[in-house]
Parts: sequence; C-alpha cells; structure tokens
Amino acid sequence: MTEQAELSALLTETRRFPPPAAFAAQANAQPGIYERAHEDPRAFWAEQAARLTWAKPWDQVLDWQPPFAKWFVGGRLNVAVNCVDRHVEAGNGERVAYHWIGEPEGDTRDITYAQLKAMVGQATNALIELGVRKGDRVAIYMPMIPETVVAMLACARLGAPHTVVFGGFSADALRSRIIDCDAHIVITADGGYRRGTATALKPAVDAAIANLPEVQTVLVVRRTGQDIAWDEARDHWWHEVVERQSEDHTAEAHDSEHPLYVMYTSGTTAKPKGILHTTGGYLTHVSATHQLVFDLKPEQDVFWTAADIGWVTGHSYIVYGPLANGATSVLYEGTPDAGGRDRWWRIISELKVSILYTAPTTIRTFMKWGEDLPAGHDLSSLRLLGSVGEPINPEAWMWYRKHIGGDRCQIVDTWWQTETGGIMITPLPGITATKPGSAMTPFPGVGAEVLDNEGKPVDNGGAGFLVLTEPWPGMLRGIWGDPERYRQTYWSRFDGLYFAGDGAKRDADGDLWLLGRVDDVMNISGHRISTTEVESALVSHPAVAEAAVVGANDAITGQGIVAFVTVKGSVAQDADSGVALIAELREHVATQIGKIARPRQILLTPDLPKTRSGKIMRRLLRDVAEHRELGDVTTLADPTVVNMIDEKMRTAEDEEA
Ligand code: WT7
Repeated sequence: MTEQAELSALLTETRRFPPPAAFAAQANAQPGIYERAHEDPRAFWAEQAARLTWAKPWDQVLDWQPPFAKWFVGGRLNVAVNCVDRHVEAGNGERVAYHWIGEPEGDTRDITYAQLKAMVGQATNALIELGVRKGDRVAIYMPMIPETVVAMLACARLGAPHTVVFGGFSADALRSRIIDCDAHIVITADGGYRRGTATALKPAVDAAIANLPEVQTVLVVRRTGQDIAWDEARDHWWHEVVERQSEDHTAEAHDSEHPLYVMYTSGTTAKPKGILHTTGGYLTHVSATHQLVFDLKPEQDVFWTAADIGWVTGHSYIVYGPLANGATSVLYEGTPDAGGRDRWWRIISELKVSILYTAPTTIRTFMKWGEDLPAGHDLSSLRLLGSVGEPINPEAWMWYRKHIGGDRCQIVDTWWQTETGGIMITPLPGITATKPGSAMTPFPGVGAEVLDNEGKPVDNGGAGFLVLTEPWPGMLRGIWGDPERYRQTYWSRFDGLYFAGDGAKRDADGDLWLLGRVDDVMNISGHRISTTEVESALVSHPAVAEAAVVGANDAITGQGIVAFVTVKGSVAQDADSGVALIAELREHVATQIGKIARPRQILLTPDLPKTRSGKIMRRLLRDVAEHRELGDVTTLADPTVVNMIDEKMRTAEDEEA
C-alpha cells in the first residue's frame, strides 16, 4: 500500500474484530471492568495491588501532589519475593520461569522458579560481599542471558536500584549513564552472540570507566569465553563470586516508594533522561496489565516478549510483569534471522508459545521475508498477539493477524512509554472489538485525552496532543537528579496534565489512533532517539560545522535517521573525500551513541535552511528527506538554500540508485 492509501485506510477503517465468544468466556478481563474502574480508579488499582504480597499493607492508596505521586503509601514489600519466592512457597517451584534460548543452536536452558530463587539468593549475597548496600545504584550492561534477570532481581531484593544499559549502546553512552546515576559497580559479561558471532561487552565497560575511580567493582559473567583484559583489583568473575554463595537470603521489605530502577531514555535535548521507577506502584501496574492485556494464565501459557531487557519493554514484560504473575516466559538472546529467518517460528512451535509480543518493525521485516516462512511451521499454539513501540500500520496488523495469528488470535496494540512504566492504551482481549491500527481505549483506571493547541479536548474525528489526565501507579516518579526537568518536560505544556509527546486522533467512535511523536524525538525500529542527540554527536566530529537531523518515513523501521551536515571550511571536499567522510561520520555516531543511532543517510551540504532568527527549519528538511513538495519557505532567511539541498538530495539518490 502506498502511504497515501494507508492514510486514507486509516481514516476510513471499518474492519472490526470482535473477540470470539469462547475467548471472551474464559478471559481474565470480564465485562464491567471499565465501568468499575471508572467509578473508583483508586479502588480498582488497590484491588490490583492486593494481588501482590505485601509485608505491610498500605495506609493510603494515593498521595497526589501534582506532579508528584506516591502510591500505596506506608506499604512495604519486596519485588524479588513477589517475583520469585512466593511462587516457590505456593508450590510452583518446579514451574519453568524462563525457557532461555541462546543464539547458537542448541544452547538452551530451562530455569524453574526454584532454581531462579536459588540463583537470586546467591547473587544477592555476592552483591553484599562486594559492598553493595540498599540505595546504591548498580549498572548492568549485559546480553540476553538468565544472569541479566538474576542480577536485576538481586538488586531489587537488596533495594539497590539498577540501571540497565542496552548492550548495543557504546562505551561513551554507558559512561555518561554510569556518571549520571553515580553507580560504583557494573555487572557485565565478556560478550554475547549477535548474528552468529561473539560480540564483546567487557571492553566497552573498560573504556566506559577508564579514569572513573568511583567504579571500584566489575562483575563479569563468562558467556562466550573470549579473551578479555582483566584488572585483578577491580574485576570479579560471576562464576567465582556468585556461585560459592549461600542460596539463602532473607529479604527485607522495602517502602512502596523505594527506587527500583532508573532507565535512560532520549528526550529532546542531547542528554538522555534517567527515568525513575519505584516499587509498589510499578509492580502493581506491570502485573495488572500483564494479566489483563495478555490474558495470562500462568499454568498454561508460554509468554514471549521478543524485546531486549535493555529497554523498558523488557523490564516490564520480560522481567517484572511476567514474574510477578508466575508466568513461563521465553528469553531469546539473538536476532530474528540468527540460524535462519524462520528461527522465531521454530521457537514458537517447539515451545508451544501461546502469547507473542513484538514491535511493528519486526512484523514488517517478516512481511518482507515472506509468509512462506511462518506457514512452514505449526503456530497453532498462539492465541494472542501484541504490538508495541510505534504505530502499527493496518497492513502490518492484518498480516500479523492472518499469517502469524491464523486469523484466530486477538491482537492487542499497546501504547505506552518508558515514563509510564506499563501499558496505558490498549484493547482488552475478550472485551474489545479491535480495529487494525488502533490502540483503541485507555486501560481501566487510566485517563487519556486528545487536546488541541489551546488545551481543549478534540471532538471525535479530530487530532491533537495525547495527554494523561489521572495519575497511575506505574508512572515515573521523576528524572534522576533533575526534579525541575521532570516538571518542565511532562507537566508544563498543559497545566496539571501529563504531556506524552505523541500526536493522536479520535475516530468517529472516539477510539484512539497514535500518530507518532510531536517533538524532536525519532522512533527508529521502536527505539527512541533524539534528533538533538545525533546532531551533537555529529558536531563533536572535528570536520563538522553544523548538523541537522530528521526522522524520515521508512517502510521497515518506521523512521530512518537522515542527517544534513555542513563541513568546516578547512576540510577538503571532492567526491571521493565526501564519500569517505560520510562513512566516517556514520561510524562516529555509532561510537558516540551506539549502532542504532547510525544515520541511514548523510547529505553534505554547503548550507542549512534557517529562519531569519537563525533557527534550523527541520520541517523543510523532513520534506526533502521524504521527497515531498517543500512546505512554506517564506520564513527562511534564504529560500534558495532548501531548493539547493532538495536538488542535491535527488542527485545523491540517483547516483546511489
Ligand atoms: C514512544 C515511547 C512502550 C515501550 C517501548 C517504547 C511510541 C510506543 C506505541 C504504540 C504508537 C507507540 C510513542 C511513545 N509508541 N508504543 N502502540 N503505538 N506509538 O518505549 O522508548 O519510551 O518510546 O514509543 O511515540 O511516545 P519508549
């Protein structure tokens, strides 16, 4: 479908997929749930919190001093006990918590809840021996292996907030996060497997903490066995320190508002924000949404969130939500094409996966690879499919339903953010009649609205800014070390309302369609990257004078990064040196931020389009990058500049083709 056709399909979408009666009859979400939550949201959330095990019950459900919330005030609980110990105590110790699948074929481990409890006990004791105390921050930079989950749970058990940094981020990105949250210990691995080769992680840690004497301890899991540099005073092997510990650790119950973790995410400035999540409210939110949105039946389901633990999706729906609910999950280390492009479908048929949760970008990649691959495998165990991370186009939704879901599975398109902690806008399986491409309605107890520029709710059929109108238990409690930025970023655009940074539309029925970011944040394969962050990485290169970055439509990744760069006068420029410089700049961004931020395309240009006050007109550059008619150029200081760039872009692309 062309973009135009898709857009009009979106505006006129009439397909409806009501839940099959048999599904509805057995669903966790039963009629009346929306009304009940709407009448008394706090009572609804309290009911959800009561599904957890509290060492001391709360005195007050919510203390709301906008924009600062405290949930389940006075309550005490331990997240690791809720995620692990209580399932063992309830007699479910033999249930598999994770079917772990390493990237190399045959490299698998099943870990039961009883085994997980023992591993977490040992890791907690090891952290104590290494000097970690309640409140200390612990950085985790790991591949997708069971020890990553164990490390997180050991931190949670101790009350030492973790900050997991995605393994694809560079040493520089890791360093800035370690410094920002002042972590004195890093847990890592020698490396991991990616597309058939062992990639290195420990060297990046060494580089990240060079001349950072505060970091006194590095705990290293041996995953690949590759040679790595070793600092006797600082580095410790996991198998030496952790595996000799006692499996018993008596957990302390922490305050409901005790920090659980910090997750860094890109905003509109060059510096990522440390999003803070706390204990009781967060666990309530992720466990409730996991149970209701995925209809999780812990005795029967095999649940698979195919995301990396280094992102919030992994935190909430690989680790905390599923474990709190006693689920059996798949934990897969590799890429979708490792060991063949049908790797996922083999995993699903072998493990009888019943619920799959992934991003539209992956679905579109599978579409490109062709429906014969899934068709060659028995996917009949699947009963529910989820989507997250970016708007899902109706065509991808329909393909997902037909070729993966066998026209039988319900689809839940779930909108949320790092900041919200858990799912906020979503259908409820068994209740909602879904529409391809719509996230439909707020989760019970959640308040969402679409506002126009003046802050007035739009009518059905209108579009505007998405805001959240009520506090929710999984909400961020702030930005690590920067309360003012918290207020400024999320609570100042519309007074007293949470500004999500997304555009949204209400259709004729009032259902919600997410339209993408309205700020300078790009969404590349479901990952958030700020234009400013990439621009400042580019400008830090000695040859670059100025850079402007935009997210341009991309058929597979949703958006792709396109950079317009002017070089310093002293830099020689001919065709060959231009090609070499572009390659160098792409690598430079990868080193500064990570491979995910490497621009799809860089155009060297003598000038950038600016307003008379000197502001770069990114809107016009987006028109150029997306091959559209140029928008209004009248506010430009020199309107010829953008035509020149447009011309240059076309020539560059003709040459590439
Ligand atoms: C941004 C948040 C949610 C975990 C993964 C991303 C976009 C997310 C959807 C969806 C349309 C979506 C939004 C949001 N987004 N889910 N179902 N439909 N857009 O977390 O990195 O914090 O990014 O992802 O633009 O603001 P994140």
